[in-house]
Amino acid sequence: MYLRKTILATGVAFSALATASFAHAEPTAEVLHWWTSGGEAKAVASLKEDFEANGGTWVDSPVAGGAGDAAMTVLRSRVLSGDAPAAVQLKGPAIQEWAEQGALADLNDVAAAEGWDDVIPAAIQDVMKYKGDYVAVPVNVHRVDWIWANPTLLAKVGADSAPTTWDEFNALADKLQAAGITPVAHGGQPWQDATVFETVVLGLGGPEFFQSALVDLDEDALNSDTMKAVFDQMRKIRGYVDADFPGRDWNLATAMVMNGEAAMQIMGDWAKGEFLAAGKVPGKDFICAATPSENGYLFNVDSFAMFNVSGDDKVEGQKLLAELIVGEKFQETFNLLKGSIPARSGVSLDKFDDCAKKSEADLQAAQEAGGFLPSMAHGMALRGHLAGAIVDVVTAHFNSDMSSDEAVSRLVEAVELAKD
Ligand code: GAL
Repeated sequence: MYLRKTILATGVAFSALATASFAHAEPTAEVLHWWTSGGEAKAVASLKEDFEANGGTWVDSPVAGGAGDAAMTVLRSRVLSGDAPAAVQLKGPAIQEWAEQGALADLNDVAAAEGWDDVIPAAIQDVMKYKGDYVAVPVNVHRVDWIWANPTLLAKVGADSAPTTWDEFNALADKLQAAGITPVAHGGQPWQDATVFETVVLGLGGPEFFQSALVDLDEDALNSDTMKAVFDQMRKIRGYVDADFPGRDWNLATAMVMNGEAAMQIMGDWAKGEFLAAGKVPGKDFICAATPSENGYLFNVDSFAMFNVSGDDKVEGQKLLAELIVGEKFQETFNLLKGSIPARSGVSLDKFDDCAKKSEADLQAAQEAGGFLPSMAHGMALRGHLAGAIVDVVTAHFNSDMSSDEAVSRLVEAVELAKD
């Protein structure tokens, strides 16, 4: 354990000096995060408990708001005013952006002591490192392209499983609607619109198209008939949601599926955390199925970055937190509650449910088939201003009667402008 080794080393090197501040540096960490829904709160509480059980003082700074848009606004103002929190839920290219600003502390000594290079998969290491230095730690692997369905409602129209093609999806939704059942539970917030959109891009276009359009921002892919078909499908889905969708939080949409008010939700597997927190059983009370695609898997890795702070207590707090997060125990406990699977390799999935096992199996298959792709909607694929340009168009289209042709030309234009 890193901390024990540090305390020993510190004891030997500094016993003669008996520096009061060093001897009494108790690990403390202010943690900025957006995990406030039922399942999320349970998961983050497990980290807090672990930290406190190891002698840490946890200062909780939750900022409500799915996908962290509000939390990132708070982060920017905190850093601007010279008051950065010690540990911040941050992911994907945003980690590199903050590192470029010189805002992040390196964790190389903990990484070396804990052997992170051997237990964090290479693709995830790339995201956690800046110029070869660890500046963040991975918490989990969430999958974005899921359908969460209520089996009782599906049975009412004779379906015993979730659809496996988008045509089947539409046919099922039409039947549900004809039976007076809301087919799709949706929260009308830009990131939720974008979550649905990227699963449709993956499904209708295939993994290569997803890569070209939403990762490489290739103009031909953005300006294509396939992209028009994606917007056509988004228009269809818009017709399957209830009238009260604008502004609804994602977890309230999950609750609609849980309570039999809507049949399906397209959402990442943090939705499973909500079902589990409510005592629901996968395969019985709810069904998990991948959104239709050919061996696709949209990944979303949550992580914490450590910001530059002063004070031995804070620095020790960051190190303890980082050590615990990558530890096997935390990776199991947290992910059982959160709906995700461990980011650390070699953690047994024995205690995990069939949805998590499917996630792991599909991840392997997608990696082999070239369909393992970063989520655009959840900040894994693009820098903030580029993703923002896409999300704005997707939302504007979903919330108006804009034609697919117009959506495509706006998309091309917005991305071109953002690239400059
Ligand atoms: C995602 C995040 C998940 C979950 C979700 C809803 O971006 O990675 O952990 O919190 O937002 O807030």
